[in-house]
Amino acid sequence: MSQIRSGEFSPGEPIPSLQEIAAGLRVSQMTARQAIRALCDQGLMYSKQGKGTFVSGIKHEKSARQVLSFTEEMRAHGSAPSSKVLSFRLQAGTREVRSALKMKPGQKVFRLRRIRYSDGLPMGIECSCLPQQLCPDLLETFDPSTSLYETLADQYGIHMEVTDEVVEAGSATAEEAALLKIAPGTPVLLFTRTCYAENGKPLEFVKSTYRGDRYKIVQRLRRAKRDVLASTPKVHIPQRRLRAVAPF
Ligand code: GLP
Repeated sequence: MSQIRSGEFSPGEPIPSLQEIAAGLRVSQMTARQAIRALCDQGLMYSKQGKGTFVSGIKHEKSARQVLSFTEEMRAHGSAPSSKVLSFRLQAGTREVRSALKMKPGQKVFRLRRIRYSDGLPMGIECSCLPQQLCPDLLETFDPSTSLYETLADQYGIHMEVTDEVVEAGSATAEEAALLKIAPGTPVLLFTRTCYAENGKPLEFVKSTYRGDRYKIVQRLRRAKRDVLASTPKVHIPQRRLRAVAPF
């Protein structure tokens, strides 16, 4: 682990053979095999069938400069995105969702909850809500194991142009830990995001739990001129994140 963390092994590099590791660390091959398995479970390494074991890219950079889909973000890093759908249904919006999406009482939302993977390793859980009237037949048109943003763009001409995003530190609940293959209580990043069209119409409200050991947030900040500071638009800040089992 310390050799990976120190950068001695680069992401994507194959690890040395079991014999070399055992000899180098002066442990039995059984101990070395167990250690490799533990590092794979933690996401620091991954095995490709028939090809061997490789070092993972430890932390993905989550850009705070651009609106990207999970699929785009992973592809930009040369990783293969995939998803496991936990639920996908039409339901009444909670008050929080209705308020973020500026919906009237009684209007429904599509709620999609997925585990997102990079090269087969769990990165996070995303729970998106979209107003029904935006994409009325989404349940039929969207294969939830593929890119939501691609379907919204291709089938409905919907483009996420602007987002308000709030990031908080948290610790994985027992359910999240089991889904993300981490120990309960492990640090996670909690994202709450509202996406808008260019004209300011709210399109998506999302709560995500990302593994703290797999992400770092990268930003470029520029010092504003004094007159600009006064006119900076207000970010939509959602209510404080509650750590319930189902995010909403
Ligand atoms: C990002 C956003 C989510 C969005 C998702 C769509 O991860 N934070 O709000 O739902 O992308 O990703 P995809 O198009 O890969 O389904």
